[in-house]
Amino acid sequence: MQMDVISIRKKLKKKLDEQRYEHTLGVAFTAMSLAMKYDVDLHKAELAGLLHDCAKCMPDEVKLHKCEKYNIEISDTERKNPSLLHSKLGAYLAEHKYGVEDPEIFNAILYHTTGRADMTMLEKIIFVADYIEPRRNKASNLSEVRKLAFENIDQTVCKIMKDTLSYLEKKNAVIDNETMHAYEFYASETRKTN
Ligand SMILES: [Fe+2]
Ligand SMILES: [Fe+2]
Repeated sequence: MQMDVISIRKKLKKKLDEQRYEHTLGVAFTAMSLAMKYDVDLHKAELAGLLHDCAKCMPDEVKLHKCEKYNIEISDTERKNPSLLHSKLGAYLAEHKYGVEDPEIFNAILYHTTGRADMTMLEKIIFVADYIEPRRNKASNLSEVRKLAFENIDQTVCKIMKDTLSYLEKKNAVIDNETMHAYEFYASETRKTN
């Protein structure tokens, strides 16, 4: 059975550290604001925002163990960097531990880190809200991206992907194929409309 928002928040407060919980609330409220702008169901945006990082704060070995227990496939990259598993595991927990029944919400959780080509509006909203919520302060161009988010969501997705890719390149980190493919998709989408 689906839990109400207040019970979900109480449970998350126990599962997440203080900073992650604050980030979670920021993503949920930002997602609802974007949902107002782009005609998406506010409740779906709130649930997806609240639950997107629900699996983030467990130790890596617990993430791996739980994925094995629930038969969630683990790629070689994820085995080397188990933090990546928090999206997949989060989508699973949203369904089985928080009683969410809506596949649109699972997908918004599943793709919140990498993004993917041709996302639904809810997926774009969570992807963007995760980057711009008010407690975020790392990226240098945040005020520009925050404004753009309420003007053109596809351009915002494209910009975030571009910045994330160049950040990962600089760090020499592994770049997920899905992210690369998604970026190429949005780069060509935004070229079409400009
Ligand atoms: Fe995340
Ligand atoms: Fe997040």
